[in-house]
Amino acid sequence: MKLFVTGVAGFIGSNFVYYWLSHHSHDEIIGLDKLTYAGNLHNLEALSREQKGRFRFIRGDIGDIGLVHEILEKNAVDKIVNFAAESHVDRSILDPQVFLRSNILGTACLLDAARDFWKSGDSWLPEKRFLQVSTDEVYGSLGPTGFFTEKTPLDPHSPYSASKASADLLAKAYHDTFGLPVLITRCSNNYGPYQFPEKLIPLMIYNALHHQPLPVYGDGKQIRDWLYVEDHCRAIECVLESGKLGEIYNVGGNNEHYNIDIVRLIISQLKQETRDPEINDSLIRHVTDRPGHDRRYAIDSSKIQKELGWKPETPFEKGINTTLCWYLDHPEWMQQVMTGEYRKFNEEHVQ
Ligand code: NAD
Ligand code: TYD
Repeated sequence: MKLFVTGVAGFIGSNFVYYWLSHHSHDEIIGLDKLTYAGNLHNLEALSREQKGRFRFIRGDIGDIGLVHEILEKNAVDKIVNFAAESHVDRSILDPQVFLRSNILGTACLLDAARDFWKSGDSWLPEKRFLQVSTDEVYGSLGPTGFFTEKTPLDPHSPYSASKASADLLAKAYHDTFGLPVLITRCSNNYGPYQFPEKLIPLMIYNALHHQPLPVYGDGKQIRDWLYVEDHCRAIECVLESGKLGEIYNVGGNNEHYNIDIVRLIISQLKQETRDPEINDSLIRHVTDRPGHDRRYAIDSSKIQKELGWKPETPFEKGINTTLCWYLDHPEWMQQVMTGEYRKFNEEHVQ
């Protein structure tokens, strides 16, 4: 089987490439990535020689219709998994335009290309799948109780979540109107290796290791549900293999925490791992809150659990420990992504 995976040089995309190539020994992946600040080819360096033989990287924009057409024309692609997106809420507040171009128009471009190349006469070729990777943030914010289900109305609050909700609606429309074999997954906050240190968990790890202040927005009592990235990759595998066309699947970790508690947990685990007395709670700084900050996300994943037999398997404290040990073991990766050295590397290693 041949997969066309976008956003492969980012956090979840790169984890997915490792996951898929190691669990599907005959499959091949064509990976497309624009290599924005968040895309880093170092993320894929640990593929084995054998896996590299089944992986081809192409640098480019999902919104480049000519390129996307060319890829689908030249390759008999069975599945498209779209991870490519601008993904950071804070950046979307500073500059929404690129979110609209990549996340909405880029997705539309992929949908159009799939529509053009996956038909034989009036019928869709069998086994084709277009999986749009989305987020629980499209549902908005919850009070202290309740959960997002797949039927919760869309109510995005940031330019990022609005752009993801728009892409979901387009994907659904291409299914409903044209019959394109679309699937949509909406996951909660991921964490794990290779996450760019702008998101909460890797930023706190990076700053604590460098004895820099740990910026907690507002009172730090916002709640997120946390999902270990490998559990997420397994969920995408389940949906690709057995999901019902046109359906949405929520994917959560069943794992809610206050932000401030996560920061304290990271400090305490890092203190234990490094024996560095300068890593302690005095690094915490409560800073001005994010505008439009969603208070709580919590996700009901009973549909994917009941229908497809998936469930999250990584306990949070263990997942955090694996994650921070990965960052401790990869100081050169931290250096590369934080200094811009990765840009040079990317320029030199693309086809
Ligand atoms: P990321 O920012 O780490 O990676 C995104 C990748 O997409 C980068 O490699 C970037 O270079 C690439 N990219 C961006 N715009 C592109 C374009 N126009 N064309 C081609 N490539 C482009 O993001 P991530 O955390 O890996 O998220 C992957 C997907 O999962 C996104 O769609 C995101 O909305 C979704 N998601 C992420 C989370 C999370 O917690 N990280 C949670 C829910 C959903
Ligand atoms: P983030 O990792 O940006 O993911 P998202 O906004 O998509 O949920 O943020 C997770 C939570 O952590 C969110 O409530 C904002 C908060 N946060 C901080 O308190 N400080 C920070 O420096 C960052 C990046 C996030």
